[in-house]
Amino acid sequence: MPLDVVLGAQWGDEGKGRIVDYLAKDADIVARFAGGDNAGHTVAVDGKVFKLHIIPSGIVRGKICVLGNGMVINTEKLSEEIMNLRSRGISIENTNLIISDRAHVIRPYHIEIDKEEERESDLTLGTTQRGIGPAYTDKISRGGEFIGKLWENYLFDTSDYLNASLNTGKTVLVEGAQGTMLDIDHGDYPYVTSSNCTIGGVFTGLGVSPKYLNRTIGVVKAFSTRIGAGPFDTEIFDEDLINHFRGDGSKLGDEFGTTTGRPRRIGWLDLDQVKYACRINGFTEIALTKLDIMSGLSHIKVYYKGAPVSFPGWMTDITDAKYFHHLPEAAKEYVNFIVGVLKTPITLISVGPYREQIIDHCNE
Ligand code: IMP
Ligand code: MG
Repeated sequence: MPLDVVLGAQWGDEGKGRIVDYLAKDADIVARFAGGDNAGHTVAVDGKVFKLHIIPSGIVRGKICVLGNGMVINTEKLSEEIMNLRSRGISIENTNLIISDRAHVIRPYHIEIDKEEERESDLTLGTTQRGIGPAYTDKISRGGEFIGKLWENYLFDTSDYLNASLNTGKTVLVEGAQGTMLDIDHGDYPYVTSSNCTIGGVFTGLGVSPKYLNRTIGVVKAFSTRIGAGPFDTEIFDEDLINHFRGDGSKLGDEFGTTTGRPRRIGWLDLDQVKYACRINGFTEIALTKLDIMSGLSHIKVYYKGAPVSFPGWMTDITDAKYFHHLPEAAKEYVNFIVGVLKTPITLISVGPYREQIIDHCNE
């Protein structure tokens, strides 16, 4: 009967896609509840890399995928994504892709307005220019448009479907998009996206009952990134460090936007910020991602109670670690400090971009 939820604890790009891909092995259905093609989720498996924007990462595992009523969908982009996935051997039919008949559409004029607002307004947000804000504006002002006839074959009362599935014991995995600090209510307003990407959005954006909620997994990257404008207290300005974290774009996992290609701003992990995300979302556990990227630094910092705390780094390559005890002492110390502050268990640690590069034995 469980509803398991994966949410971004920072500014998006925490690595939710790969965590959802991993957890989807035990799920029957994977659902998205908010946002649209502003999201970019990367899944890497058997040397193949999939970049998804609209369809949940569960599609790569052949799971039934749901686009919830809380989403705004650019149907042209959705067609492209379907074609692209099909051409790479992934089957997508109306049996494994189900779209809420109450999801709203993004029209070309929404994209025009989004671009124009970025050009003309005094307040530059650095949106993804996918028309997200204007489409939600129309929805909230009651001038929006439901996804229509052309998609009829895929449309469904997804709230009914999900609740019925949960009721018969199926497992639904919810894939968050964006992150807590981009939430329209709880993020760094106005430097936010136009949807609720925190826990509350799951229930409105899918129409599922909270009584099914089981695990709430917060995805926390071992450092911080932010794309677009807005406050970033732990931002790093040292060029060498930025290059270490960001890379040059040639490697999988380098910190450039999946959707826009923009270089991401880089910062140290901000535990005050992540604690806030724990409070808003009630994470029952944390998935810590990209710990491998911390390798090769002489010192590591995290911010806690507004001040930097310094840790010794480690030089060992950890990309083959399968158990917590495989990690060097300095890495264990870093992870244990995070657990101590957040008072939330870390149950998954990713140590590389590929599906198998994950420690799911965090107690061993
Ligand atoms: P919008 O969602 O395109 O309106 O953009 C609003 C803000 O959210 C901008 O700062 C974007 O860069 C950011 N944003 C939107 N989606 C994502 C995402 O999936 N990852 C990271 N940042 C995002
Ligand atoms: Mg992303």
